[in-house]
Amino acid sequence: MMQTVQDAAGLRATVRGWRSQGHTVGFVPTMGNLHAGHHSLVKLARARTDRVVASVFVNPTQFGPNEDFERYPRTLAQDQAGLAESGCDLLFAPDVATLYPFGAAGSVSLRVPEITDTLEGAHRPGHFDGVATVVCKLFNLVQPDIAIFGQKDFQQLKVIERMVRDLSLPVKVMGAPTQRADDGLALSSRNQYLSPQERAEAVQIYQTLQQMRDLIAKGHARKVVEQAAASKLERAGFLPDYTAIRRADDLSEPAEGETEGLVALIAARLGTTRLIDNLSFD
Ligand code: PAJ
Repeated sequence: MMQTVQDAAGLRATVRGWRSQGHTVGFVPTMGNLHAGHHSLVKLARARTDRVVASVFVNPTQFGPNEDFERYPRTLAQDQAGLAESGCDLLFAPDVATLYPFGAAGSVSLRVPEITDTLEGAHRPGHFDGVATVVCKLFNLVQPDIAIFGQKDFQQLKVIERMVRDLSLPVKVMGAPTQRADDGLALSSRNQYLSPQERAEAVQIYQTLQQMRDLIAKGHARKVVEQAAASKLERAGFLPDYTAIRRADDLSEPAEGETEGLVALIAARLGTTRLIDNLSFD
């Protein structure tokens, strides 16, 4: 039976009990409205550790003032059922006051420099400060042995890896592959904002990533490939924030002619919905 707790004391008591029996603990943080992508992370944790904790918390500090915090879908009952089925032992679903006892504005905030200056960080000021802060809080509460993050949010995974290393946090961060719909669109809670026509067009993001990969493999210049990808998406009715090819390890810009260890990343708006995806290749 999966247990759900809202408060830190309840969470700590359960995890302490497991620890005293020598169990290892895996952790999957989420914002809820779970789909098969999230569940794949829970299943991975299930396979790696004795006990699995997931969290559902729509974190106010990682949303910008004009972003979708208010309308972000909240579907806790459905999430509970899905998590239980995927093998989660404990769901932590705190309220804002539990994670931000001094309020969001009064809280200690973490900044992970450099890697957050680019891509998502450049287009969503403060976003990764909110992510790093809440994930650090959640790690302190859950104290997991391993924590699993999706490669779907590639830069987020890199930011967390860097934070954990720099703050010497005793947790092993693992990345998990992006789960996609049959046509290739990366699963995302935000896909449900798309109209049926937009949903049909959204696949072009993944197709463009594949084209970027193929053109780089054929030796085309990086800047030309990036620009061609942006133009293609614009012609299809998207408003791209970036179409970038970067080094996968630190998201820095590769040298001309560099073809190994790269990742292509796209963020683009389709109507009112902002979609992101990426594709690693070597
Ligand atoms: P959320 O968007 O709910 O995503 C939770 C986790 O699921 C993240 O690690 C994300 O990368 C992963 N995920 C999302 N879609 C996926 C897909 N199609 N395939 C595989 N994994 C996928 O990311 C967040 O929440 C928040 O920023 C959080 C880390 C919880 C901090 O608030």
